[in-house]
Amino acid sequence: MRKIIFGNWKSNKSKNQLKSWFQEFRDSLSGLVFSSIEPVIAPPFVLLDPVEEALKNSGVSLGIQDISAYPAGSYTGAISVHNVNGFAVKYALVGHSERRKYFHEDATSIAQKVTQLLTDKITPIVCVEPETIQETANAISTESLSSCIVAYEPSAAIGSGKNAALQEVKDFKAEVIRLFGHVPYLYGGSVDEKNIAQYLLVTDGVIIGTASLDARQFVSTLKTAQGEKPIGS
Ligand code: PGA
Repeated sequence: MRKIIFGNWKSNKSKNQLKSWFQEFRDSLSGLVFSSIEPVIAPPFVLLDPVEEALKNSGVSLGIQDISAYPAGSYTGAISVHNVNGFAVKYALVGHSERRKYFHEDATSIAQKVTQLLTDKITPIVCVEPETIQETANAISTESLSSCIVAYEPSAAIGSGKNAALQEVKDFKAEVIRLFGHVPYLYGGSVDEKNIAQYLLVTDGVIIGTASLDARQFVSTLKTAQGEKPIGS
């Protein structure tokens, strides 16, 4: 399996900023072919269409940052799996700590989101940390657990520049295997081009917030991940 490098744009970027971002992205890539990594970009929902268009034939997959816990219907303001039908969305974050903190998401709604995504064959990337993994796994149906990807996303490491120690990331994997089985395992929290290589040794990929916002920085992180340009060379 190629290593997933998931760029989570969060609530950043507007339609007007896309053109220059993708121009810089393409220029910096300079024809790089992704052989050992699978880059993913997860824009805000309103930018899915132009981002999908810009990513055509680029080898970069499309992701989303959340999904409604409900199907199509009378749920004002929510984006359901039905609404993203027709887009080539491959992965969706679920239960990111920012969703839990600012939008009061709990294990029950996270489990509903996992169910919704799987009905549409979008792979859920369930974000957990020590305080939330047990109740999250308990809420998800047994048959769905093995269809998830699990991301270790310690809140203290997110957006802080304080990326988690490698040993901590390694250790948490045992907890993931205990509760979810042998599912793909990602790490997220202040990952950048300087620290990404070590995490890829012990995970199936990473989630990158801040360092995915600048196209050049994202590309240089992708290149390091693929071993094209080792740090210090
Ligand atoms: P960060 O965000 O890279 O800015 O720490 C990571 C995340 O929220 O997954």
